[in-house]
Amino acid sequence: MTLPNPHFENSYTRVFGHGVGMNQNADAFFARFYDHFLATPEVAEMFAKTNLERQRLMLKKSVLHLVTYYATGVLTPDLQRLAERHQQLQIAPELLDVWMQALLETLREFDREVDEVVELAWCWAMAPGIAYMRQIMSQALTE
Ligand code: HEM
Repeated sequence: MTLPNPHFENSYTRVFGHGVGMNQNADAFFARFYDHFLATPEVAEMFAKTNLERQRLMLKKSVLHLVTYYATGVLTPDLQRLAERHQQLQIAPELLDVWMQALLETLREFDREVDEVVELAWCWAMAPGIAYMRQIMSQALTE
């Protein structure tokens, strides 16, 4: 997969290792992500009954779905399912900003070469997937 921005690609490799898959460091990364994400009480409430270990594994995979969308511009059924699940959960789309900030806070701790350019590259990489999720999550449920 060719990624359009070397700042993102290099940072991703520093944090997760080479290749599209992720190394063990990713587990520590996503564990820490939830520390930051759940620091917002509104978010913590929603995860009160969630098995966080399982959740971490799923998040790890779903970040790959976001990266795939960024790299290819093609919506995958995985990403569609993810957006629909969040629509069903009736999560306020504004909370996607909290999600992104938690990701950046985690990045600052895990990428020793992080700077503003790298952070922006991550925002850019996550943006298509987040925009798609926001669009679906902003639609009323039809049932
Ligand atoms: C781009 C941003 C996000 C990604 C990639 C993501 C990823 C995921 C994944 C992979 C799941 C598991 C889906 C499944 O059960 O099949 C999930 C569930 C969930 N997400 Fe997100 N999420 C995002 C944003 C958010 C936000 C902003 C919130 C707001 C609090 C949120 C709250 C939840 C909740 C409550 C669940 C269900 C947990 C459970 O099953 O107990 N997510 N998310």
